[in-house]
Amino acid sequence: MSRINRIVLYRLLAAWVVISLLIGVAVSWLGVRKIDRELVTLATAEMKKFAMANSALSQQPAAVRSVLDLSASQAIREHFIVGEFQDRDRRKLATAINPLHAAMTPEVERQAAGSPLDRETHFRKFSADGQSWLRVRVRLDEAEAAGTRYFEGAFLIDPELLGRLRNDLVATLLVALIAVTLTTLCLYPIILALNRDVVRRSRDLLAGNIELMEVIGSAVAKRDSATSMHNYRVATYAVRLGEALDLGRDQMCDLIAGAFLHDVGKIGISDSILLKPAELDPQESEVMKTHVSLGVDILKKSNWLLKARDVVEYHHERYDGSGYCKGLSGDDIPLLARIFAVVDVFDALTSVRPYKQAHSFAEAISVIERGAGTYFDPRLAKAFCAIAEPLYRETRDVPDAEVELRLQEIIGKYFFAAT
Ligand SMILES: [Fe+2]
Ligand SMILES: [Fe+2]
Repeated sequence: MSRINRIVLYRLLAAWVVISLLIGVAVSWLGVRKIDRELVTLATAEMKKFAMANSALSQQPAAVRSVLDLSASQAIREHFIVGEFQDRDRRKLATAINPLHAAMTPEVERQAAGSPLDRETHFRKFSADGQSWLRVRVRLDEAEAAGTRYFEGAFLIDPELLGRLRNDLVATLLVALIAVTLTTLCLYPIILALNRDVVRRSRDLLAGNIELMEVIGSAVAKRDSATSMHNYRVATYAVRLGEALDLGRDQMCDLIAGAFLHDVGKIGISDSILLKPAELDPQESEVMKTHVSLGVDILKKSNWLLKARDVVEYHHERYDGSGYCKGLSGDDIPLLARIFAVVDVFDALTSVRPYKQAHSFAEAISVIERGAGTYFDPRLAKAFCAIAEPLYRETRDVPDAEVELRLQEIIGKYFFAAT
């Protein structure tokens, strides 16, 4: 499974867990509320029935207590354990106790709701004696004429009814979870297909950008050389030195782009200076130096090409501060530019130029070693000299096409690794 597919799978799994949890909580909360409502409706209906039947009697508590007790045990069967008539100030008028559950009375009293005296039905659920109970208070507007305002009672919830309601809740929850799971399973192939399309398009775009980088680099190189092999060689050298220094993937990509485009600004330098078959005079040298700022201006036209900026802008800085354009020194020079400065000079020394012949490998290495600490970062000069010989053979003893091919493989390895 590819990295992208794995990421899609992990994210879908995470989404599945989160959505399942959210739906689970929501369904449970709504389900519990529904159960409560059903139980309260049931309890309220029974209580009102009982209360209305006995409201007249509640005016003479002492005289009718036994009648109420009897009524409680008969009319409410096993569901009520305590029924209490109250006046408008919630003072007790009479209490009916179901003898079957008389032992529960203290616990019921302890659970007194203490809710406000209004028109609403108030309830509190509690567990005791291994069973579920409801303590409910209802307003009896119809009985007010007889002096009774409220009826408050404790209602035993039928375990069978509660079990059925809970089973309904579990079934609803399961259906919701199955729906989420099926949706997730259906989404996976759809997202993968869309993702494949996005990956293909982004690879095409990246390939286009790389082609553009190579074309621009080659176009510039062709101005002062028959081929653009300098770019391919310095890019290869820079990558190998970067690998020896353990650079990250992003830095390697920036280094490759920088190697291809390092002299892009030379496109703005006149042929009389660029192709002069002799050393440049001081005035011409100043003009030549502007290729750095010209190059930065060109890169600014494309966010993608700006990857090359560190190398383009600082590849002529020297470690001792005597370079151009900024005159930076030491570690103030960006690392990629310090790396590139070594490989660029090495390849220039070992190549033919309009004004000179190619130096031998040994001569070029000797120049690099002598320049360590002044021209070059000594650590980087040393690291390059350590790997230079096989690298030199790898690029000089093989056909140009093979050098290009190897670099394409390197580009594929670093640029396309994340897609
Ligand atoms: Fe340059
Ligand atoms: Fe160069």
